[in-house]
Amino acid sequence: MRAADIIARKRDGIALSAEEIDFMVQGYTQDTIPDYQVAAWLMAIVLRGMERQETIDLTMAMVRSGERLEWQNIDASVVDKHSTGGVGDKTTLVVAPLVAAAGVYVGKMSGRGLGFTGGTLDKLESIPGFRADLSVEAFRAQLERIGIVVTGQSAGLVPADGKLYALRDVTATVDSLPLIASSIMSKKIAAGANGIVLDVKVGHGAFMETEDEAEELASLMVHIGTKMGRRVRAVISDMNQPLGHAVGNAVELQEAIATLHGRGPLDFREHCLTIGTQLLLVAGTVEGTSDARNELENLLDTRRAWSKFREWIEAQGGDLAFVDEPERLPSARFVRELPAPRTAYVAGLDAREIGLTSMLLGGGRAKKGDTIDHAVGVVLHAKVGARVEKGEPLLTIHADDEGKLSGAQQRLLAAYDWSDEPVEPAPLIHKVIGQG
Ligand code: URA
Repeated sequence: MRAADIIARKRDGIALSAEEIDFMVQGYTQDTIPDYQVAAWLMAIVLRGMERQETIDLTMAMVRSGERLEWQNIDASVVDKHSTGGVGDKTTLVVAPLVAAAGVYVGKMSGRGLGFTGGTLDKLESIPGFRADLSVEAFRAQLERIGIVVTGQSAGLVPADGKLYALRDVTATVDSLPLIASSIMSKKIAAGANGIVLDVKVGHGAFMETEDEAEELASLMVHIGTKMGRRVRAVISDMNQPLGHAVGNAVELQEAIATLHGRGPLDFREHCLTIGTQLLLVAGTVEGTSDARNELENLLDTRRAWSKFREWIEAQGGDLAFVDEPERLPSARFVRELPAPRTAYVAGLDAREIGLTSMLLGGGRAKKGDTIDHAVGVVLHAKVGARVEKGEPLLTIHADDEGKLSGAQQRLLAAYDWSDEPVEPAPLIHKVIGQG
């Protein structure tokens, strides 16, 4: 087999065999096929697409490039969730302990924020002492002991994805449904959970800007996971405006803690209950949606999900004093409220701009490996549909630098659209796909 022939076949729109795909993936992982050939192959995939079977074969080839975890000897059902990335998306911080409190094990590898989107590990690392670099052995031991573990991606898992993603990033080949779906699903399959819920975000603050694209990605990923014997569901959820009120790291953690105490923004609580319900359904521990929801509401309201959160944070070395008194979490030097510029209804709130502003304040990374400031961010007081009076607090900026603070003010004000007439916000949940 020759890489050049495989590239030519894909260039000509011919479906590749499992062997051809495997040859390219293993060859690239083992450095026997160079970057330039793989870049040409990836571009041919972007332009010509892949059939569903090719996408499944690509996913499996990526899984085979590294280690594969298995949890068969764990009695409980092990589930995992994945968000395609958004702004203010702190869902794992609430949903993981919530579902674990219901007796369903959550074993999850999370990522860090990049660009305008945030990452769960960065939020968790606002807690002094919290460790996100567990070995596979420590991951397994904690999962068996307390039923919940969230850590960074193990280096041995899907090494092909690490290499391919870095190459895609610099060759304009990220935007491709089969490449995105195989990248996400290979990591989920290799991490071993038998139930998977995919939170596919749609809107200005997401990868997928249209509902059609989001639905296509969601159904492709559900198809791949189901073919591989996993129970998979996908929720298509709105990301035109940020989720909840807080965008940053420590501020998002504070909001998640408030939600675990039965407070917190209603949209965020609702989103957590929806994802949690789907997780219990794929785990098969409930009769139906209303059963799941009642159980989860009860676990939130009786603080049992909160107790599980504490157990989890303590197990990973986090100092509980900072979650018991979240006002002790890293705080910014400048905390400034911005007043509403007019009396009107909020008609739009550009999630991407809010996420970018938080990144520019220092809360995110422009490129992989940048250090971040856990204290900075933005807290929104009025979201789409709210009516505000001129001069009322519109949002609060948390900054460590006065120059960045004034830059953020301009951007944030420009992120709002206004209307004199009442405005109905987009639905939070657009669709649920898969029966799992
Ligand atoms: N997230 C991933 O893990 N991979 C992609 O290709 C896109 C988003």
